[in-house]
Amino acid sequence: MRDPRQRLIVALDVPSAAAAQKIVAAVGDSAFCYKVGMQLYTAEGPQLVRDLVASGRRVFLDLKYHDIPNTVAAAVTEAARLGVSMLTVHASGGGEMLRATTEAAAAVNPALKVLAVTVLTSLDDRDLDKLGIHGRVQDQVLRLAALAIASGCQGVVASAREASELRSELKDEFVIVTPGVRPAGAKWGDQARVVTPAEAIAAGATHIVVGRPITEAADPGSEARAILSQMSG
Ligand code: C5P
Repeated sequence: MRDPRQRLIVALDVPSAAAAQKIVAAVGDSAFCYKVGMQLYTAEGPQLVRDLVASGRRVFLDLKYHDIPNTVAAAVTEAARLGVSMLTVHASGGGEMLRATTEAAAAVNPALKVLAVTVLTSLDDRDLDKLGIHGRVQDQVLRLAALAIASGCQGVVASAREASELRSELKDEFVIVTPGVRPAGAKWGDQARVVTPAEAIAAGATHIVVGRPITEAADPGSEARAILSQMSG
């Protein structure tokens, strides 16, 4: 994965296929993979995903599935048939759900990466306590990541703060996708708890997800290129 374009994922957090396609066209060859999340998928449905795949782009379907094993496995079979390259499930769905999911994905496309969401970055230790989970967020992240690997997942979504500990605990080939990334020196730099592309990669991320700094840029292509240069530099 020397080419940083293999590691940049652009989040299409927009309300319509037209807005999404405009961003994809503006980014051009600077990114190969696009994240379709709940907003865009709820608005436009699977056709948008099929269209992106048909145009040669890779799709990271970030719907964070969380249900009983049979239901999630069936949904993942359909996602795999759409041709997505990566998708997310909640690790807290449990080992049986994760195993059913990874087996369903592999049956359609062995190259499809099933990524586990561990603890949402919006939750802190006190929130977990109220959910009956006592201890540090970081420990819960590591516990759920270990369960995810043991259940056949190819990786996790994790903040850069968690990535370095995950990387030292987990196998090298394990995928770590890191959101909350902001280009160095940009107006986004003063936001709390964000990291630069270089910091995310140094922390052990294999992929970074960048949304608004690219999607809201006057020139999304040049912003994406600036981020690519910071990833390799
Ligand atoms: O903030 P930005 O627009 O770059 O966010 C891109 C994506 O990263 C969003 O789709 C959001 O779901 C995800 N994200 C996340 N955890 C965070 C911050 C952002 O999963 N702490």
